Amino acid sequence: MRDVIVAGNWKMHSTPADAGDLALTIAARTRVAGVVRVICPPYVCLAAVRDALAESDPDVAIGAQNVHHELQGAYTGEVSAPMLAGLATWVIVGHSERRRDAGETDALIGRKLGRAIDAGLRPILCVGERLDEREAGVQVAVVRRQLAGALAEVDAGRLAEARLVIAYEPVWAIGTGRNASGRDAAAMSGAIREALTLPGQDLDPELIPILYGGSVTSANIAEFLAEPSIDGALVGGASLKADEMAGIVARAGLTATARGAAA
Ligand code: PGA
Repeated sequence: MRDVIVAGNWKMHSTPADAGDLALTIAARTRVAGVVRVICPPYVCLAAVRDALAESDPDVAIGAQNVHHELQGAYTGEVSAPMLAGLATWVIVGHSERRRDAGETDALIGRKLGRAIDAGLRPILCVGERLDEREAGVQVAVVRRQLAGALAEVDAGRLAEARLVIAYEPVWAIGTGRNASGRDAAAMSGAIREALTLPGQDLDPELIPILYGGSVTSANIAEFLAEPSIDGALVGGASLKADEMAGIVARAGLTATARGAAA
């Protein structure tokens, strides 16, 4: 059975002064068997979140939102994968906001992925089409290109070992309040697993969790988790609200129980 995962991407919200309390509140409201919980605060809040959760909820994983593609060097303002040791065990790579705002290409994202894996971080690789691409009906081709570009240089066996997670996040659904339908998201996760079927490679797409992301809330999470091909959510705006996270993780717990019983 694949992990059922709820990851919260706090984006550029919270401060070192308040992040610990927020993480504690969310952790306390989301203690549900069978669900892997991940909180991804800004870099400067990682230590505060780690310290806050260390005693009460050590099973809540902590992730970074990005990582640099080099190990060290003259890269002002950047953070490399080895620097995250002791602070994070997961990392998001290829988020559409970084593709858009930092000009990240699929090849660069692939290098980040390699660094993350080398450092023992569990990666969440984000893919997803823009609105114009969806309207042109090329969403599958876009996601295939993103996956091929990012995964080209990373050995499939290492991806499997690192327990790669993919997040399908249609750009038009992120932060817009306009979520994809469960059916569309399931169709895309099917296309993603098909794209990950690499002949002769040591990567079984059936073992790779696929999350949906884009305006996920406690009100719509059920629609996604009702789809057998979707294994959880990458949550942005709602991940800052304890009530929302409580609802989302509770629903994920039902899925984990049902799938565990069926397995
Ligand atoms: P959203 O963000 O839930 O606020 O739409 C999702 C994401 O960007 O991961």
